[in-house]
Parts: sequence; structure tokens; C-alpha cells
Amino acid sequence: MTWPLRLRPIAFGGDYSPEQWPSDVQIEDVDLMKQAGVTAVTLGVFTWALLEPSEGTYTFDWLDEIMDRMAAAGIAVDLATPSANPPAWLSTAHPQILPIDRDGRVLGIGSREAFCPSSPIYRSAAVSLARRLAQRYADHPALALWHVGNEFGAHVDGCYCPTSERAFRAWLLARYGGLDRLNDAWGTTFWGQRYHAWNEITVPRRAPMPVNPAQQLDFMRFTNDEFLACYRAERDALQEHAPGVPVTTNFMAPTCRHIDYWAWAGEVDVVSNDHYLTAEDTDNHVELALSADLSRSLARGGSWVLMEHSTSAVNWQPRNIAKAPGEMRRNSLTHLARGADAVMFFQWRASRFGAEKFHSAMVPQGGTDTRTWREVCELGAQIGLLAEVAGSQVRADVGVVWDWQSWWALEMEYRPSVDVTYLDAVRRTYATLWRAHRTIEFVRPGDIPAHLPLLVVPSLYLCAPETAVALRKYVENGGILLVGFFSGIVDESETVHAGPFPGALRELLGLTIEEFHPLRHGEDVPLSPGHQAGVWSECVVPRSAEVIWTFDGGPDAGSPALTRNTVGRGQAWYLATRPDDAGLAALLDIVAAQAGLPRPLDVAGDVEVVRRVSPEADYLFVINHGVEAAVIPGSGLDLLTGTHHQEAVEVPAGGVAIVREDSHPPQLTQEDAP
Ligand code: GAL
Repeated sequence: MTWPLRLRPIAFGGDYSPEQWPSDVQIEDVDLMKQAGVTAVTLGVFTWALLEPSEGTYTFDWLDEIMDRMAAAGIAVDLATPSANPPAWLSTAHPQILPIDRDGRVLGIGSREAFCPSSPIYRSAAVSLARRLAQRYADHPALALWHVGNEFGAHVDGCYCPTSERAFRAWLLARYGGLDRLNDAWGTTFWGQRYHAWNEITVPRRAPMPVNPAQQLDFMRFTNDEFLACYRAERDALQEHAPGVPVTTNFMAPTCRHIDYWAWAGEVDVVSNDHYLTAEDTDNHVELALSADLSRSLARGGSWVLMEHSTSAVNWQPRNIAKAPGEMRRNSLTHLARGADAVMFFQWRASRFGAEKFHSAMVPQGGTDTRTWREVCELGAQIGLLAEVAGSQVRADVGVVWDWQSWWALEMEYRPSVDVTYLDAVRRTYATLWRAHRTIEFVRPGDIPAHLPLLVVPSLYLCAPETAVALRKYVENGGILLVGFFSGIVDESETVHAGPFPGALRELLGLTIEEFHPLRHGEDVPLSPGHQAGVWSECVVPRSAEVIWTFDGGPDAGSPALTRNTVGRGQAWYLATRPDDAGLAALLDIVAAQAGLPRPLDVAGDVEVVRRVSPEADYLFVINHGVEAAVIPGSGLDLLTGTHHQEAVEVPAGGVAIVREDSHPPQLTQEDAP
């Protein structure tokens, strides 16, 4: 990863669309940006039709002017290639570039993102404009970073057009080498689906009954790869003509289900992510923290760019609730606490027309005599005080396995229960650890870091044999592993691992499962140490594992609900149900203690505590989402207020403290506890 020098130390700004404004407003923008402490903007995201009004005709003069104005103001530019919205002339001349959905409907223009990722016409037109941009702006003093397209795949989760179908067949040929292997992998003896010629194979259009799950899964992989190929083609053109300028594209982790960002992370010079709160969720700051931790994990622990978030309401949720006073600041500084070294918004100035006019902005419709504007200026000034934090790294203590492909597979048709969903499993685990003030690093299956003493696998329905081997090695070397139910079931081809469930993880967990007993909607079953559980029960037969909790009722009364298997120097725990919040918290405390983690901090659950560390200093971030003041042990210089805290950092309700600590806090372990 290469951090863009011109974004240093910590960038602050947003998506800027000067093309929507007359020149007097554009001139005013620069003054306002300076007032707000803006150091970077993203330019040009949806400007293809303006930069290339007809094929091969370019009008760069307006962009030259803006780029020069940004350079003169000392504002760095994250320059987008405008490929997220092909111009009308392109689809008029070549309607076959338009995407077709699963039901065979052509998605039209007049919006954005209407392109088929496999279309050679689209790709070559996008690359040709990217090349022109690179040739023109490679040495421009404002250019900090390239931003390829926008949120690839965000609103088209697969294209079912004839071009895509041909590309899918080619992709399958490369994956399987021949039809026999494809037939084996897809299990086409089932329902007599055997294929005898390549032209019989289709994209998984809507069919009378569920389409072969292995075929669906491959189509999702294919779609991911096709979008990635679009990105790569543009990136390569940019790198060829503007060597040395870092390239990114904005991710939407974790909200975009159908893009496997683990596969993308190694293709960008810097990870950037967009995050929007689910406005109605009163605990939405927890999901925000999850998104930030996932972004940092994709960046392999390094700094990342928060490319978009909102100053207040968005425009696309059922009820677009505005942020409360101080909420934007907490949101932004939480991203920063969790490794973002750039805090950017969608958008600089609210549009007066178009579909997003009710979306908040740094300069809202009400202009500068507004709370939003005052909070933006205050935040910009505060980010200016945090320069020394840039480049420091977040200290995580618990690993959580995150896998897009397992998510895809889990949520196809005909599973044991519709109540078993991927995000439910991961978000509950995350939220429980968050409330215990643990800091999470997300882990790619099969790439398990040895340094984390505790690894939780909330859900891993699809588990490749290599993943099982990596998990085993982790445990043998002393790791404490906790695996959630309905994991280890199928391989990459959606085929059940041979033998009793949980196939791939059976030996490691030291148990077999005789039958799944999903529960009725709303049904609860008691567990032996006094907790309740819902959604799932199953008949676990311990082999080498010891039983820690049992079901006290329901279809599996008397059989194990929680087990522990000792393997090598470590332990593999298995949870056969979905305990209530208290039960999950108790369990995570138990395994954390086994892993020798420090006891959870004794502060309220809605106070967020994170550390970023550098060779020079430790920075303690305390973000108080609660309604009462919080007091955290610690001493040091508060970078936002200049106060020196002695022994305790007091943070008012809704406030944030960022403290350069005088020393490292004592690491209290469970064994040291009285
Ligand atoms: C993002 C997108 C932006 C803007 C924003 C609105 O997903 O990248 O261009 O549409 O949503 O919240």
C-alpha cells in the first residue's frame, strides 16, 4: 500500500462537483474550503458526458481550470475517472452495453451505473478516457490520487446479457478446463442438469425453481471478477501514463454483499471506503465501527481513506433522519480512531437539482449560517490538530473471520432456516466485543494471523479445505478459536463435505452433528448456565470435545450447546445455537479469558475506547456515545483541547477525547485479576 503523499498528514474534504455550479459559486467554494480546513477533494466522479461530449471529442478546459484553482489553493485532488456513468451517446450508439437483470429487463439510462461490466465496448471507452486523463494530469501539482469509477458493482449485482453469458462461459472454461470438471463441480447429475456443450450453459436467469447453487456461486465470483477486470484495465492505463500516482477505488464494505473486497484489496494502492449510517438504528455507531475495522483490515492494518460519509441525513433511506448535534464529529473521529487517515464526505455542496438534492453536504442547502456548516468548520480545525496521529496503527486484540463468499453461499435458497443470516452472526459477535471494548481485526479465511490470541468465526458455512487446515494450525499453535453453528458445511463448489456435519471442521472441533433442528420463529430454548437461545438448535455428538453448556429444553434438551476441544497448544470451541445477548457476552468473556486477554474495561458499554500506536506514542481515543460523562483511566495530553489529563480522562456525554498518553497503560490480564 502506498499512502498518497499529498493527502498527508490527515486529509479532510469531500466529493466536489463544481460542474453543477456557476463560476461565482466555484470561486466562493475555494474560500469556504479554506475556512473549513479542507485539504482534499474528489473531482470528476460523474463527468464522462462533460469531458467527452461525443466519441473522441474532449473538453478538458473546465477541468483544467478547477485543477489549477485547487492547486493554487493548496487543495489536493483525488481525481476520478468518470466510468461509473457512461454518457448517453455511448449507449445510444451501442445499446448492448446496457445491463440486463435476472428477469431479463434492460436497465436504462438517465440515472447512473448503466453498464455491463463484461462489455468490451464499455471497457475500451472507459480505458480510453482514463488514458487521456492520465496523459493530461499526470504531473499536475494538485493530483494526489486516482479514483477509478465509483463503487464498482454497487447497484448492478450481475449482468445477464448475451455478452455476459459468453464471458461467463469463457470464465468457466478457464476455471474448470473442461465440461467434465464443470459438471462434477456443479453436481449436474442432480435434477438432470448435465451439460454436453458449452453453449448450453447460461447465466443463472430466473427459473421455475432455484438455479443450481454452485452455478449461482460461480456467477457471483464471475461478476466480482468482471468488475475487478474493469477496474484493473483503467488502473493499468493510469499507471502507464501517470507512473507513481497511487490509485484507488471506493469500496462499500461491508454493505455491498456481492463484491469480494478481499480480492480487490491487493489491487489498490490505498484502500478507500464509503460508509453511511442506517439512520434509524439507534446503535448505528457500532456498525460504523465494524465498517471502519473492516476497511482497516482490508488495508492490512495500514491507513485507509474514508472516502465518503455524510455530514447529516442521506436521501435514499426510508426515513432520512438527520444527525444530532455532535454526531457527525463522533462518526468522523471514530473512523479516524480505527485507522482512517483521510476523512472525506459525500459531498462538498448540496446539489440544487437531480436525485440527491435532499442529501446533506458540508455546505448544505441552507449555506453557511447553519449548524452543519459550523460543525464542519469545527471538525476541520480539529483534524488539523491531529497531524501527529497520521500513520499510527490500531492495536487490535481479537480476530473475527469475515468471508464474502461464505455469505453468498449461506444466503441462497433452500437453507435450513431463513433466520440464519451472515450479517446477523457477524454483527452480533462484533457488537458484543465492541461493548466489551475489544478491538477487532477482520481476518480472511485461510490467511490467519498468528499474533491474535483469540479468533472468532461467527459463520463459515462455506469452508474450503485449506481454510480448515489454516484454522487447525492456528489452534495447534496455541490459538483460542470459537466457531459458530452451521459452519464448515460445504466446499467451494457448494458440495457438502463428505461424512457427518460439520465436515471440514469436524476433527478440529471434536464432534459430529446428527441433525439440524432450526427453531420456530420466536421460539426460545433454555441453556444450562441460565441463558436463553433462539433460531437454531442441533443434535451435537461430542467425540473428543468436552461439553461446557447444554440445551436445557427444545428439540435437543440434554445435548451439548457449547463445547471445547483441546488441540495442540490451543482450544477449538463450538457454539451450537444463537444465545441471547447476555449469553453471547458471557461466552466471549470466557474465551477471551482463555486467550489471556486483559479484562474488559470497566466503563459503560456505549463508550468507545480504541488505541492507535506509533513508535513515538500511544493515542487513546475515547468516544462517548452515551448520555452521561465517562471517566477512563489514563493520563496524557488531550490533542483537541490542550488539557493535560492526570490519571483519568473525563469525556462529556456525546464528546470525544484524543489523548497522547504519558505511558503505556498497564496490561491487566485475567490471571492478574483479584
Ligand atoms: C454513494 C455514492 C455517492 C452518492 C452517495 C449518496 O454510494 O458513491 O455518489 O450517491 O452514495 O449517499
